[in-house]
Amino acid sequence: MSESFFITTPIYYVNARPHLGHAYTTIVADVARRFRRALGRDTFFLTGTDEHGDKIVEAARKEGLSPKEYVDRMSGHFRDLWPRLSIEPDRFIRTTEPGHMETVRKILQKLYDSGDIHFAEYEGLYCTGCERFVLERELVDGKCPDHAVEPKLIKESNYFFKMGRHRDWLVEQVRENPGFIRPQRYANEVLGFLKEPLEDLCISRPKSRLQWGIPLPFDENYVTYVWFDALVNYLTAAGYPDRPDFGRRWASVEHLVAKDIVKPHGIYWPIILKAAGIPLYRHLNVHGYWNVAEAKMSKSLGNVVDPLGLAEKYGVEAFRYFLMREMTFGLDASFSEDALVARINADLANDLGNLTSRVLTMAHKYCEGKVPERDEALESETGLGLSAEASEAAAVYVEAFGEFAFQKGLSAVWDFISRMNKYVDTNAPWVLARNKAARGQLDLVLYNLLEGLRVVSELIAPVMPETALRMADLLGAVPGAGSDFGLLAPGAALKKPRALFPRIEPPVEKAAPAPPPEKPAAPSVKPEISLEDFARVDLRVGTVTAAEKIPNAKKLLKLAVDLGEGRIRTVVAGIAAHYEPEAVVGKQVIVVANLKPARLMGVTSEGMVLAAVDEAGLRLSRPESPAENGAVVR
Ligand code: ME8
Repeated sequence: MSESFFITTPIYYVNARPHLGHAYTTIVADVARRFRRALGRDTFFLTGTDEHGDKIVEAARKEGLSPKEYVDRMSGHFRDLWPRLSIEPDRFIRTTEPGHMETVRKILQKLYDSGDIHFAEYEGLYCTGCERFVLERELVDGKCPDHAVEPKLIKESNYFFKMGRHRDWLVEQVRENPGFIRPQRYANEVLGFLKEPLEDLCISRPKSRLQWGIPLPFDENYVTYVWFDALVNYLTAAGYPDRPDFGRRWASVEHLVAKDIVKPHGIYWPIILKAAGIPLYRHLNVHGYWNVAEAKMSKSLGNVVDPLGLAEKYGVEAFRYFLMREMTFGLDASFSEDALVARINADLANDLGNLTSRVLTMAHKYCEGKVPERDEALESETGLGLSAEASEAAAVYVEAFGEFAFQKGLSAVWDFISRMNKYVDTNAPWVLARNKAARGQLDLVLYNLLEGLRVVSELIAPVMPETALRMADLLGAVPGAGSDFGLLAPGAALKKPRALFPRIEPPVEKAAPAPPPEKPAAPSVKPEISLEDFARVDLRVGTVTAAEKIPNAKKLLKLAVDLGEGRIRTVVAGIAAHYEPEAVVGKQVIVVANLKPARLMGVTSEGMVLAAVDEAGLRLSRPESPAENGAVVR
């Protein structure tokens, strides 16, 4: 049987609706599982909701509902959101399920019987936000740093889990097993916590203070601490202890959490498992926080980001891609709608979308809409291959995704896409097409590009499953065939290109920049820029398909320009004093294709055309001889 992969997310508190952070973790889990499933692993993906404790009772009271009515409603918001983000968990667990309550009681009884739990009177500071006793040294100015409130002094008798005696064992476990907690910075954080003595963990709450919880099996006057209840969900879902496949599933468990809950997962949980004689998890994967404008997302700041709204506005696939590409796993990242739009336009509409439509357009033009032959002898003779680059991208991607380094994996795929865009420019299929003797080369170049796109469709499938299917369909490929190069069947019918991702207007309308000066005041050379600065400018060849004057704008013409993207762009050009509209139609021009769209006299311009300007006037720049629309100018 194939190796298993069991991935869990935190079970989320139902005291508020799901936000961007919850969506991110759950998308990561979905991507990780789709990636493993594509490699042939037997996978299991668990998520759910955490429904007991003071906070829930408080939130229910505010809504005028019973805790049960409240958790049923709120849990539904999480469960219903996931399919709308193309997230497909195998199991959605709720801590109020009777089966889970039974498992928690079994584990508690086991620890009680083994002498790991003792009863004692305790006086201490209790933070309702954290739902636990806190220590004086954890406070900042007398307040809980996470909840900014002064904890209450409480004196009561409770049950305690003896954690202190497992400290040395845990230090060794974390030190000796690199990757047990990863990335390493979080293993170091856990080792840092373990430098202090480990206090015993209070695992009960008297029913007189809290009723909404799981009663202790050995004392019905108490319910268990919400974290104890919550962590055990992973065991319940794996079928602890009796399900026949429990051992196999549990042996492959990996947890995924953000940095906020490293302590319960990196300290309490391994110790509970060890004390209960249950094997430890394989990895604890910890990611950073999404901040909004450098600030933590919070209801009080009013900056909580709604994931469904974004997915509906920009598309689920683009939203998933952005989250996976933008955050370096383990570090914090900053969310903004501007950054999301910039990624969609640059990576998806421009790099991937343009390449796909360029290649398909050429295959229809030069190969009758079919996958051409790949002459491998000619390939080694001419060095026209792309398979080494594709295999390298796939290898980096597989290793990176296996370690949750999604950003690195996706960068490798996009490097390959850039490589293919350059391959189009250097091998200029439109030039090969003019030379009958170069037929074999033309077929080879187009085969390699189509096959390169097929490989890309396989690699992006865990992140953008729908796009991968659409690409496979356009390419006449079998989805899920794998990323080995050369699987596309010659003769397979290709579909007509369709835009994979439309370009998106930036959300905030910027003030219109002044039209470019017709004649520079002095022909002085501008300050130096680096090669990297220049490389950020995307210059493309396009053909003007229509042109008209803009009312009340003497200097401006509105041009329709075809950049080979499968759609026509509007570009406003300050050339009306030098060209009649009819004179530019059918002409090729050079367009700054990645200029931020701007409104000029009520028209949104999606680029800028280049022209030479001197004493004699203004002349549009164009390639010396006709080039393919979309060809890169360097
Ligand atoms: O802690 N950025 O539930 P919770 C990224 N019930 N991820 C974020 C985030 C952000 N700004 N904010 C939240 C609990 N998350 C417990 C868990 S598990 C046995 C019990 C995500 O609703 C991230 O996964 O507060 C974080 O760990 C989790 O939501 C906390 O969810």
